[in-house]
Amino acid sequence: MNNKILSLLNNNLLTVTPSLIRSFDEETSKIPGIIKLTLGEPNFNTPSHIKISGIKAIVDNKTHYAPNRGIFELREAISHYLQRHYNLTYNPKSQIIVTNGASEAISTAMNAFLQKEDVVLCPAPAFGLYKNLAEINGAKYIEIDTEENNYKLTPEKLTKYLKKYCDKVKMVILNYPNNPTGITYSENEIKRFADVLRQFSVVVLSDEVYSEFSYKERHTSFSQYLPEQTILVNSVSKSYAMTGWRVGYLCGPTEIISNLGKVHQANIATIGTMNMFAATEALNNGDLDIQKMKLDYKKIRDFVCKKLKKIGYKIAPAEGAFYVYVKIPTDFKGTSIDYARQLAQKAHVAVIPGAAFVKGDQRSFRISYAASIKDLTKALDNLEEFTARRQSNGQNNSLSCS
Ligand SMILES: Cc1ncc(COP(=O)(O)O)c(C=O)c1O
Repeated sequence: MNNKILSLLNNNLLTVTPSLIRSFDEETSKIPGIIKLTLGEPNFNTPSHIKISGIKAIVDNKTHYAPNRGIFELREAISHYLQRHYNLTYNPKSQIIVTNGASEAISTAMNAFLQKEDVVLCPAPAFGLYKNLAEINGAKYIEIDTEENNYKLTPEKLTKYLKKYCDKVKMVILNYPNNPTGITYSENEIKRFADVLRQFSVVVLSDEVYSEFSYKERHTSFSQYLPEQTILVNSVSKSYAMTGWRVGYLCGPTEIISNLGKVHQANIATIGTMNMFAATEALNNGDLDIQKMKLDYKKIRDFVCKKLKKIGYKIAPAEGAFYVYVKIPTDFKGTSIDYARQLAQKAHVAVIPGAAFVKGDQRSFRISYAASIKDLTKALDNLEEFTARRQSNGQNNSLSCS
């Protein structure tokens, strides 16, 4: 029987679906012996010096409310870090808000900008949170398919969509290194996007949570080229293996940040004070931790990609983050969820189906290689066996993408 108040819910929720990443992870976790390559969760623990700073903050009674925008020490650490790593200038007094992970930063920005019928453009495949938050805010979420260009957005395609949706476009989302494809953009490519976006009255939400894990070349922040139109989102979650601490931040022009601050204040007030002290230590003294993790991820990435290619899978260029986006064999007739289910049940390997990253389906799956080399070796051996079995049953892994 329907609950009496069900029909009173905000209509915007009708198109919002719970995260397939989470539900598929839960579904496959029940399979005995499953090797999970599902969540975007670093397999490292938070470095000790960072944990100790968090503990010290508790012992020192840093357990009270903090200022709405976060403790000044952390905002200053963010400002110095962004200057040191990406040559960005953000004033800790007026241009930075500490948020509850990057997730809240994205939510706050969308709450602040989006109204009914606004269009949000996002290159797809993409992290599912963008679509859900855009729709919760009543906006139209429009995907720009990038598959035909090996998952890279081009300035030409971006221009085409901006012109097509014209005045309706309020926000453009960029996320690189990208979840789920792992692709990223060079400085020159970023400059060219900025040249396009400068001509339109749109806000760019640049989600750079994987900025530290760019293996091909140094990460260039979008904010370097179009700061006046950019809301920069980042967090300590991935870079310092701190997903559970829930510390992120957003940066932007002063007047914009003062308005975003109203949303953050209303929804969150402020995040956990002791967590902010740990994040301050990470940003001030964690450069070496990042370097070590990056080296490890890169080695693992090389190993995983080589083996996937050997098996016969076609993959997107895994240039950053800790994901590989893999094409499903063309002779497989079901959906990406069907394929991922078969992998889970028959090969005991849990991955995320491509359907989690686009509105319809995408004949791909995402492997998170933030896992132990032991688990990855076993998982890839299982995939090889699974593929060989399919081939001997008359199906093969022949794929169409280069
Ligand atoms: C692209 C992207 N943005 C944002 C987030 C959320 O990050 P946080 O844990 O800091 O909220 C994730 C997490 O997986 C992500 O992949």
